[in-house]
Amino acid sequence: MKSILISGALGQLGSEIALELRRRHGDASVVLCDIRDGANRELERGGPFYRFDVRDGNALAEVVQKHAIDTIYHLAALLSATAEADPQNAWDLNMNGLFTVLEVARAKGCAVFTPSSIGAFGPDTPKDWTPQDTLQRPRSMYGVTKVSGELLCDYYYHRYGVDTRGVRYPGLISNVTPPGGGTTDYAVDIYHAALDEGRYTCFLKGDTYLDMMYMPDAVRAAVQLMEADPGRLRHRNAFNVTAMSFSPEEQTAYIRKYLPHFEIDYRIDPVRQAIANTWPNSLEDYAARVEWDWSPQYDLDAMTRDMLRVLSQRKGVKDVTLDDE
Ligand code: NAD
Ligand code: SER
Repeated sequence: MKSILISGALGQLGSEIALELRRRHGDASVVLCDIRDGANRELERGGPFYRFDVRDGNALAEVVQKHAIDTIYHLAALLSATAEADPQNAWDLNMNGLFTVLEVARAKGCAVFTPSSIGAFGPDTPKDWTPQDTLQRPRSMYGVTKVSGELLCDYYYHRYGVDTRGVRYPGLISNVTPPGGGTTDYAVDIYHAALDEGRYTCFLKGDTYLDMMYMPDAVRAAVQLMEADPGRLRHRNAFNVTAMSFSPEEQTAYIRKYLPHFEIDYRIDPVRQAIANTWPNSLEDYAARVEWDWSPQYDLDAMTRDMLRVLSQRKGVKDVTLDDE
């Protein structure tokens, strides 16, 4: 039977991976940890939960030992915009958090899932259809930690045989937990604003293309990769995965299919725009498709319909008509 630990479990990604893993393996088999508590009482009370800093190797090793953990999903990190506001802290958390997890995994024989990001690419990387193996010279501190993390995970696999695996996620869009301070957060905020106010002020330019993915696909990617046959994995860490590529203008056009009066204007945040300008427009994810059968299920239209359906029900907004209703 699997016994899984998730670090950063109360975040945008962790809260939904936790729900899926608990559904698959049972509440008691999925242990959550985060540096804060009270953010999601249902999740925290639904199974074992520990509040500690993932950089605390003794606390981590104790929990791994107590619950006979065999797999760690290491999700605690600072995202791009937050990292750029505090680069020293971003380096400390993103690198020393990962190093601590890998050391405990090495000592206790755990497999480790670590997400990298489109942030691991930079201005010299081919922008369209960005290949799996290409130039990576990011300019943001977030990107520097993501490339370093990819290399560190490779190192622990080759040097110590730790079963490290990971994907490069695009911007993630979801409706359970708000995003944690990234450059792609606009693509989540826009749905809330469309339903709450009928208008949105975007912090990126309207023609800024970035890769994106709806959360159900992101959760499936993590679980599917961790369950993949290791014999098929030529790459192990940092698989490109993608589902869609769009700009704020295109996302607006799709929202207007269902909310015709929705308006957008722009007040550009220079820091996040500068980060976005160095990231790919669209990724190529052939290696993930060949090595572990990756295939996304949501495109921009399917995601928009689902986001508007879930959020309009939650907010009690009645005048949204989706095609299938
Ligand atoms: P998030 O900011 O929503 O969540 C991170 C969680 O980590 C938070 O709950 C926070 O309290 C916790 N945390 C922070 N410091 C900690 C510490 N010292 N010890 C323990 N917990 C700590 O982030 P997310 O969006 O869920 O991202 C998870 C991972 O996925 C990150 O590695 C991120 O780089 C990667 N990723 C996310 C996206 C995205 O769009 N969300 C895209 C690409 C990659
Ligand atoms: N969504 C993330 C960010 O913008 C990408 O890694 O930071």
